[in-house]
Amino acid sequence: MDELALEMTGISKTYEVNNVRALNNAEFRVKRNSIHALVGENGAGKTTLMKILNGLERADSGRIFVNGEERTIKSARDAFTLGIGMVHQHFRLIEDFAVAENVVLGAEPCGHTGIVDKHAARKRVQKLADDSGLRIDPDVRVSRLSIGQRQKVEILRVLYRGADIVILDEPTSVLTEQEIVDLFSTIRRLKEEGKTVVFISHKLQEIMTISEEVTILRGGVTIDSGSISSFDAKKISFLMVGESVDLKTSRPKTKLEEDALVVDSLRVKDRRGLTEAVKGVSFGVSRGEVVGIAGVSGNGQSQLVEALIGLRGVFEGSIRVDGKDITASSTRRRRECGLAYIPEDRIGAGASVSSSITENIIVDKYHTKTFSRTGWIKYKAARSYCEDLITRFDIRTPGPLFPVGLLSGGNIQKVILARELSSAPSVLIVCEPTWGLDVRSIRFVYDRIDEIKSNRAGILLVSSNLDEILTLADRILVMCSGRLVASLENNGSLTRREIGEYMMGIACQPEFREPGTQNELS
Ligand SMILES: Nc1ncnc2c1ncn2[C@@H]1O[C@H](COP(=O)(O)OP(=O)(O)OP(=O)(O)O)[C@@H](O)[C@H]1O
Ligand SMILES: [Mg+2]
Repeated sequence: MDELALEMTGISKTYEVNNVRALNNAEFRVKRNSIHALVGENGAGKTTLMKILNGLERADSGRIFVNGEERTIKSARDAFTLGIGMVHQHFRLIEDFAVAENVVLGAEPCGHTGIVDKHAARKRVQKLADDSGLRIDPDVRVSRLSIGQRQKVEILRVLYRGADIVILDEPTSVLTEQEIVDLFSTIRRLKEEGKTVVFISHKLQEIMTISEEVTILRGGVTIDSGSISSFDAKKISFLMVGESVDLKTSRPKTKLEEDALVVDSLRVKDRRGLTEAVKGVSFGVSRGEVVGIAGVSGNGQSQLVEALIGLRGVFEGSIRVDGKDITASSTRRRRECGLAYIPEDRIGAGASVSSSITENIIVDKYHTKTFSRTGWIKYKAARSYCEDLITRFDIRTPGPLFPVGLLSGGNIQKVILARELSSAPSVLIVCEPTWGLDVRSIRFVYDRIDEIKSNRAGILLVSSNLDEILTLADRILVMCSGRLVASLENNGSLTRREIGEYMMGIACQPEFREPGTQNELS
């Protein structure tokens, strides 16, 4: 039997809508039962290549061999029949359905009457979850799940259909460090079971850790491929972007001024309003300061941010921006007070995918004098403003009127970043600013954050990536079980381990102890 599970040769693809040549004679060969990383900068063509393999896009030319036999793949169903399954960069789950319903959707077990056998579906999903180590309750609604759990559901969907070749499109860009550890053990387990895994990622360290083989795409062309042992992170990065990029920043020294953001004794309830997710949190962010929030996800960080930006009611306590109380203000009023926000869920909360780049960028500015006159939008002004941002943020698009939904994943991120980072906020709240971005774009975002800080804004950075927090933040607040447990100056001697102890609730600084508790957390 051929040792290649998969071979794609001479694959070319031009998207007609925008005349973008996404792939140009690309080559992709994957050994059976291996873990293969597919890498390349934003817009390099990774997702397109995998969509072609899944029958979701048609190549203009090229051949596909699965287990040594040439195949035509016209639909996702064809791909599944050949044992190929893909977990997409942007999840495709139905929020209102339970886990089991989502997993079996389109391939439901039916009784002899032809009616979907819900009981059988539930049982099968439970067994699959147990066998694969992807532990998740089949009955819970997807809307209740964290991003990491949603991803498990997506992987279960693929396994349920019997995939032998599992493609994961940027599975880790939305995961916390612990979730990544779990995912890696799942990937290794899949390999032990004889499956082949294709893994798309921008994180070089991960690629070096998990993969055995690597293929590098640049501008739709396969630049290099081979065993991971013949590469190192620097070489891969260089091959991806054609230059070496250093992510270190010297963190500009700024004079700390008055508080831009003041949060006082904030209490926020969870989604169902039953328990407190944020249990009395107080802190300030000065102008000219980057404050990082670290914590294992699910310890109140997202509820805190939702309360700050007005997506979740405050139960007790107050929030002030530049001295103005915004605790109960609308999101629009918050923006007017100088609060800008980059959400972690950029597709769901940050962008309107069916609208153009221009519409997405001026959505919060169209009523200002620059962009409107007597109720009419000044299209020329809007267009040239966007063209400038497209150049500065290196958004790969045919033009400013192009729908955001048709951009590559990383380029969608850049549109949102461009909108938020180009305003001159007093307070900027940034969640996971570099999810899904390639190194060059990460460098760019770090520089913008430093620049906004130098322009005297206060920045609150929420990131699951400790290295990112250590690179950018002047001070680090650690959250655990809905409370702050530490405030640490990032003076260069702080270690990941020290922060980790606070994150896990092993340690708590005296000033954050609950009255009545002896030493550490209650
Ligand atoms: N449906 C589409 N219609 C038109 N153009 C598209 C479509 N999907 C992708 N493109 C374009 O094709 C190119 C390659 O995109 P692709 O999504 O394959 O990149 P990628 O390597 O996955 O990038 P990222 O790391 O940002 O996800 C990009 O220039 C993108 O704008
Ligand atoms: Mg992609």
